[in-house]
Amino acid sequence: MASRVFKLISEEAHRQKYGLEMIPSENYVSKDVLKALGSILTNKYSEGFPGRRYYGGNEIIDKIENYACDLAKKLFRVPVALVQPYSGSPANLAITMAVCEPGDVVMGLALSSGGHLTHGANLNFSSIFYKAVNYTVGDDWKINFGELETLAKIHKPKLIWVGTTAYPFKLDYKKFRKIADMVGASLVADISHITGLIIGGVHESPVPDVDIIMTTTHKTLRGPRGAIILVTERGLKRDSEIKSKIERAIIPGIQGGPHNHQTAAIAVSLEEALKPSFKKYAIQVAKNAAVLAKELGTVSETHLILFSLTKYGYGMGYQAQYALEEAGITVNKNTIPGEPASPFYPSGIRLGTPALTSRGMKEEDMVKIADWIKRVLEEIRGLDLPRKQEKRKDFLKEIKIKLHKNKNLKRIRKEVENFAGKFPVPGIND
Ligand SMILES: Cc1ncc(COP(=O)(O)O)c(C=O)c1O
Repeated sequence: MASRVFKLISEEAHRQKYGLEMIPSENYVSKDVLKALGSILTNKYSEGFPGRRYYGGNEIIDKIENYACDLAKKLFRVPVALVQPYSGSPANLAITMAVCEPGDVVMGLALSSGGHLTHGANLNFSSIFYKAVNYTVGDDWKINFGELETLAKIHKPKLIWVGTTAYPFKLDYKKFRKIADMVGASLVADISHITGLIIGGVHESPVPDVDIIMTTTHKTLRGPRGAIILVTERGLKRDSEIKSKIERAIIPGIQGGPHNHQTAAIAVSLEEALKPSFKKYAIQVAKNAAVLAKELGTVSETHLILFSLTKYGYGMGYQAQYALEEAGITVNKNTIPGEPASPFYPSGIRLGTPALTSRGMKEEDMVKIADWIKRVLEEIRGLDLPRKQEKRKDFLKEIKIKLHKNKNLKRIRKEVENFAGKFPVPGIND
């Protein structure tokens, strides 16, 4: 009998095909990436690095890993690439361990301003084992460089992160470099969200200005889950030992055997990203996001939109996420700068275009999608979050049930399913 898992996978395939995946950190990988990921390479142990493994039988695995590293170096035009980190968070831990001693100061954009957990958030390794200092965005939702400079001069960080997870604007790496140089900090770019846009030339590359770069491979880069660490010429000049420090941090520091099937799938996705068609894809991602943002009455210079729901009511993030999910549109609730409700019951949603664009959707489709989103959001008007904290959990439980029964949302879902089903998804029904 076939495993129950395959039935569940086909249910998830249906959801992925007939819904609109708008979580900006998600994407649809190609059939070739899926093929490499599901290959027999998962059978092999390869602790260590090419030519320096603890186990025998790694001749072919060495070739695969070297190939992946060479592709990454070519794509980003850097002298060093490492592809073993299991994912973005351990990659950021490895970088921090290579650059800092425990207790050193690290600076990153606050979670509440669109930064990532690993850049110095509470409860994360980055603030447990290191002294984390967060800079924030200003009233215009853009990075407050005045504050960043003041904090850097006071706290003298060893490492400054430049990278975001919910930030709809372009980044000025030169401004970060200037501040890092004032205090002698290493500057590390976490480009996970915008890698595809950098490859497509939509965003500036951080390579000339930063020492180290980390990217996850599964977002706009459209590869399997995983991460790549790159060292720039500038980074090597700063510390000629940095490659081996990062390697040591990966293993024996935090990981064991690399996931060879994942490495192979990363190599396939890098081959794809080197093709001219990927540039076209990346440009379309940004065009789609700009149209979607405009239709929703906001702006995006990236692949994502951070959308404030304050005009619909108080603390509406959960309600919007639930209602949109009922309509077949997947987004995530998100805090907005100057959050008027609570980081736990936020006032915004984050949505993006990388996955929709991979399915071939264009600007005219974004206009339709924006219209569905606006119709859905009308359904949550009046469903404001209770001001009393103790009432919130029960309120949201009731709202979920109420929205599940909502006839207008069911009607929109039908329209969304008819529309989405027409756009192919690699690896599903083909
Ligand atoms: C900017 C950034 N860095 C790091 C990560 C962590 O990646 P992972 O979820 O693969 O650990 C993410 C994921 O959301 C991210 O957005």
